[in-house]
Amino acid sequence: MKKIDRKFGKKLEVDAKLDINGHVFTLPVIEGTQGERGLDISKLYAETGYVTIDQGFANTAACYSDISYIDGKKGILNYRGIPIEELAEKHSFVEVAYLLVHGQLPNQKKLKKWSGFLTEHSLLHEDMRHFFDGFPRGAHPMHILSTMINALSTFYPNVDQRSLKADINETSTRLISIVRTLAAFAYKRSVGEPIVYPKHDLSYGANFLHMMFDSPVKPYKIDQDIVDVLNMLLVIHADHEQNCSTTAVRVIGSAQVNLYSTIAAGVNALSGPLHGGANQAVMKMLRKINKDGGNVDKYVAKAKDKNDPFRLMGFGHRVYKTYDPRAKIMKAACHKLLKKLNIKDPLLDTAMKLEEVALNDEYFKARNLFPNVDFYSGIIYRAIGIPENMFTVMFALGRLPGWIAQWREMVETKNTKIARPRQIYTGVPCKRSEGSAE
Ligand code: CMC
Repeated sequence: MKKIDRKFGKKLEVDAKLDINGHVFTLPVIEGTQGERGLDISKLYAETGYVTIDQGFANTAACYSDISYIDGKKGILNYRGIPIEELAEKHSFVEVAYLLVHGQLPNQKKLKKWSGFLTEHSLLHEDMRHFFDGFPRGAHPMHILSTMINALSTFYPNVDQRSLKADINETSTRLISIVRTLAAFAYKRSVGEPIVYPKHDLSYGANFLHMMFDSPVKPYKIDQDIVDVLNMLLVIHADHEQNCSTTAVRVIGSAQVNLYSTIAAGVNALSGPLHGGANQAVMKMLRKINKDGGNVDKYVAKAKDKNDPFRLMGFGHRVYKTYDPRAKIMKAACHKLLKKLNIKDPLLDTAMKLEEVALNDEYFKARNLFPNVDFYSGIIYRAIGIPENMFTVMFALGRLPGWIAQWREMVETKNTKIARPRQIYTGVPCKRSEGSAE
């Protein structure tokens, strides 16, 4: 595989000084292309014997990356320099997947080839179909999905980092396409219906809806408006710099783990309710509020009560300290879709009330807590017939090109090291081993 000597930010003339008991150490200051600055501590331990402590990595840049950019204060998200609003409006998920993996939007010829690969790789190895029979009814599709992605490594054992030199197009499209098939099969399994195979003449999104909802006794009619909404949802989930699941992918991948097992780790990380699992948790919360008489104030008060573990799901973000730009797109799309489908969803009314009360509340204002990507997405999924336990799977489908792009960037970068943080030991003081010096 060709290793790339990527530029690691710009070293500024100014240095930072760290004074430890009168010993002064110089820390280089690095600047990224958007002017964000960081202190390079890569030699700190070797030179001082000290480590840094940063639980949750809130102050740590774990890598240099060219893929996506967030300005959390201004509410900006770009993939490869292109604003998310533009991508969501004008580009297909298939194009955006190419953009993330390759760094540029494809021309017609490249798009045709990439789409052709996606169609070619959409079938699952027939032997894997029987795996679905082993899961208990009611198993969560996210768990089925991660298990099945892991199992792909046994069917395609050569798809590891070394195979990158073969063809990244093949590696990426097989994953992007098969995971869509796996997701739909997992759903069919959960509802006890026969699986539906992909069709060669349907677009990426239409094919997914076909595999999810077509049945021998009730054919599914593809509605282009729904395909468009699905496309937008996948695009806005496609990457989000160093979030928890992407970090999981980079950490696992740094040990040169097989790509499929690496991506399975990303899916597992995403399933947590503080991360992608929040989209399902939001619906549970909205339903609970409605069942409880729709008293939004009561739940806002609960979220503020430090003795109550309840949090407003779909609110708050590590990086955004303003309205999440994805939530803005989502909210507008949600209203448009429900109007088009003539749906009156009481959960949307509750979500809007909740947002209004929270945004005017001092607690939420002081902490800059705004709706995030997961707040409105569930209402859209619900409107297009996606069941709640599939919401996080939808997030995973969208995030896949981002994980692959981040993994590719990591493995192709010269000097990538295995991720191996340090710790400050606070356990039982160690016994001195025999023969150790006084
Ligand atoms: N409801 C009530 N209080 C909140 C919430 C919330 N949703 N989010 C943060 N806070 C409070 C928190 O209690 C803390 O208060 P204090 O300063 O008094 O201790 C303060 O705001 C800062 O919160 P934090 O937990 O230190 O922030 P974080 O950056 O570690 O966590 C978060 C970010 C997304 C995990 C968190 O906001 C949260 O739990 N939100 C709800 C779950 C959710 O919607 N997750 C989806 C995130 S976006 C998509 C994704 O990543 O997949």
